Amino acid sequence: MLVPASVSDYRLLAQRRLPRPFFDYIDGGAYGELTLNANQADLDALKLHQRVLRGAKNIDTSTTVLGQKLAQPVILAPVGLAGLYARRGEVQAARAARTAGVPFCLSTVSICSVEEVSAATTAPFWFQLYVIRDRGYAKELLARAQAAGCTTLVFTVDLPVFATRYRDVRNGMTSAVPLAGRLAKAWDLARHAGWLWDVPLRGKPLTFGNLAQAVPAAHSLGAMKGWVDAQFDPGVTWKDLDWVRSNWNGAIVIKGVLDVEDARSAAGVGASAVVVSNHGGRQLDGAPSSISVLPRIAEAVGGRMEILMDGGIRSGQDVAKALASGARAVMLGRPWAYGLAARGEAGVAEVLAILRRELEVTMTLLGVERVSDIGAGALDP
Ligand SMILES: Cc1cc2nc3c(=O)[nH]c(=O)nc-3n(C[C@H](O)[C@H](O)[C@H](O)COP(=O)(O)O)c2cc1C
Repeated sequence: MLVPASVSDYRLLAQRRLPRPFFDYIDGGAYGELTLNANQADLDALKLHQRVLRGAKNIDTSTTVLGQKLAQPVILAPVGLAGLYARRGEVQAARAARTAGVPFCLSTVSICSVEEVSAATTAPFWFQLYVIRDRGYAKELLARAQAAGCTTLVFTVDLPVFATRYRDVRNGMTSAVPLAGRLAKAWDLARHAGWLWDVPLRGKPLTFGNLAQAVPAAHSLGAMKGWVDAQFDPGVTWKDLDWVRSNWNGAIVIKGVLDVEDARSAAGVGASAVVVSNHGGRQLDGAPSSISVLPRIAEAVGGRMEILMDGGIRSGQDVAKALASGARAVMLGRPWAYGLAARGEAGVAEVLAILRRELEVTMTLLGVERVSDIGAGALDP
């Protein structure tokens, strides 16, 4: 490939660049990957409604989300372990997001801490928190994020337990590996000299920046899984949102909602937005695609809070389909992780530029100049 032209080209570049366990960790989903595949397949199945000769020449992809101006309706979703895909990966991604004029959301389980990201970028970023048992630790994390200037809290509610991802098990990411497997892993690592030089050699320290005291080493997913198993709390209910509310001053976004009643509960506890999401097909395998449930959630609660969506967005056309189905903006998970693994900050920037160009062309061909004009009529009936 001479020049990567699309998000899927960046996926291929990431596949070449990363040792297999890390590529599969990004690329894979839970169990049979049914929901992972449905996210993209259901977007593909939607048809856009072409209009002609409508004079759409001043295309403006900008919008606002939670009062913040975005150059395009796209947000970088929280993606764990990004500092293992490229050197100090979260810092590189946050910089690319700032330059592109879109928000970056830092995962709880990032390699770079909130303080490191804050020191490296002038734009405020978002912080994602998982439901964790140790309230003292959670409170401390929220305080650190606020002190680091984070404006928006993304509270992820669809991971009360860790669903099995077969690819991670097969690659020995979650448990000890027999000798033959360890040799195969070492051989695989040795074949990825660029990554070895960039990440393990120049990208240290490879610890979970926000959890450094709790989880000493980040190189095995097993360490993270052990922490998740001990800390994630399936007993949490909507009532616990009061606790989150009382420890966070800014906007709260509830991420991982697929059900209308759950969306109403999110509005009821004062959330500013929900992310219609199935965690990129990484949790409940067999759950519907995000795009298929988005319209009914938008219809039910769109008047009370902002509706974001993620899962399967791979092009500007997909962004338009999500907006036409009721989203105010989309979150991107894998696309930015592929860009980062392929070419660091420049790769994330290029992925964002590709999406924006594709959205501009799509809007022209739909005959609309502003993203707020992308309504249900943009989909072919
Ligand atoms: C490698 C990887 C790591 C992720 N880590 C987190 C995380 O730490 N916190 C979180 O809320 N969601 C996490 N997600 C889910 C994303 O935020 C997002 O919901 C999902 O990737 C969207 O689907 P897409 O990858 O098809 O864009 C992760 C997703 C991937 C692919």
